[in-house]
Amino acid sequence: MAILDIVTYPNKILKQISKPVERFDKELHKLLDDMYETMIAKNGVGLAAIQVAVPLRALIIDIGDEDGNQGEKTKIEVINPEFLEWEGSIKDTEGCLSVPEYFDEVERYERVKVKFFDRFGKEHIMDAKGLLSVAFQHETDHLDGKLFIERLDYIRRKKFEKEWKKLLKKRKK
Ligand code: CO
Repeated sequence: MAILDIVTYPNKILKQISKPVERFDKELHKLLDDMYETMIAKNGVGLAAIQVAVPLRALIIDIGDEDGNQGEKTKIEVINPEFLEWEGSIKDTEGCLSVPEYFDEVERYERVKVKFFDRFGKEHIMDAKGLLSVAFQHETDHLDGKLFIERLDYIRRKKFEKEWKKLLKKRKK
């Protein structure tokens, strides 16, 4: 397995619309394994393929168990996701490995029902609530070229632009 480079904002790659996965082969499995290793190494709870510059509708989520432990039991591999139902509203603080060190509140659906395929092409339907629901929406947004900062309200977006400039300066030093 390998730790991959993560594409960060404002790289235009992140704006691409990812294409559906058609082959559930070894190449896909390697991509998912590398993505998982990369996500864990960077302390993330979700990662979409486009974040490692692969424009495919594939993503992984691992929000961990009650104690925050991540692993095979809590890992979810999601291929070609499609929302079947969505309801309610939840506001939670989000971050993104493509927008490092910036966190802010985004409004999302509190509950979603998602249809997706696993790495072997088997179909699954999952009901997700709370943090898991937020993760599904955040990661699926990536497949459509959208970042969480684009979902911030006007004031928060301005605050982001200001703080991002500061963060970039700090990183250059
Ligand atoms: Co993200």
